[in-house]
Amino acid sequence: MSEIFPLFILLLILCMIISIVWWSYRNGISPMPTSRKVKEALLRMAPKDLEGTLYDLGSGWGTLVIPLAKRYPQCQVIGVESSPIPYSISYFRKNPNNLRLLREDFFAISLENATMIACYLYPGAMLKLRDKFEEELHTGAWVISHTFAVPDWKPLQTVTVNDLYHTKIYLYQIGKHHG
Ligand SMILES: C[S@@+](CC[C@H](N)C(=O)[O-])C[C@H]1O[C@@H](n2cnc3c(N)ncnc32)[C@H](O)[C@@H]1O
Repeated sequence: MSEIFPLFILLLILCMIISIVWWSYRNGISPMPTSRKVKEALLRMAPKDLEGTLYDLGSGWGTLVIPLAKRYPQCQVIGVESSPIPYSISYFRKNPNNLRLLREDFFAISLENATMIACYLYPGAMLKLRDKFEEELHTGAWVISHTFAVPDWKPLQTVTVNDLYHTKIYLYQIGKHHG
């Protein structure tokens, strides 16, 4: 029994690693969390008074969506993540009551009720999301994205974070992004 237990743990860790790698390949991006500096800058930059429903598309381990839910206790905050291991870890973290986590593909859900969308994704997803945003988001809804911009949209504000990568954060508002 005492010999089987470490083997079981090893197998479990191996399965978890395989799952993370497989879903990273499938989604086109790993569950790399937003860094502390970028998260703080993003929370400072996001609009102060928001009501309604906020989304983190690809919420990973919960690194960004949990602070977002704490920052906007009056809002319903929804994290959408398809990769099972990061999703499960975020699910079992100490989550505020206004946070809901969905294990889904964010391209398959409606964003019509969104007041603000936050994302840290990759260029291909931003291109595909641009069309979805233009179709589904209402005038006045906000989009905040770091590292990758929404192609062809003009941000209302851009902030460069004082980190190793000079990460850029882009803030857009629907109806005001075409310049
Ligand atoms: C770079 S991580 C960002 C995690 C988190 N938002 C943060 O800032 O810490 C991107 C996440 O998006 C998820 N993702 C990518 N495409 C997705 C899709 N179509 N549906 C759901 N999740 C997706 C990935 O699995 C990954 O966990």
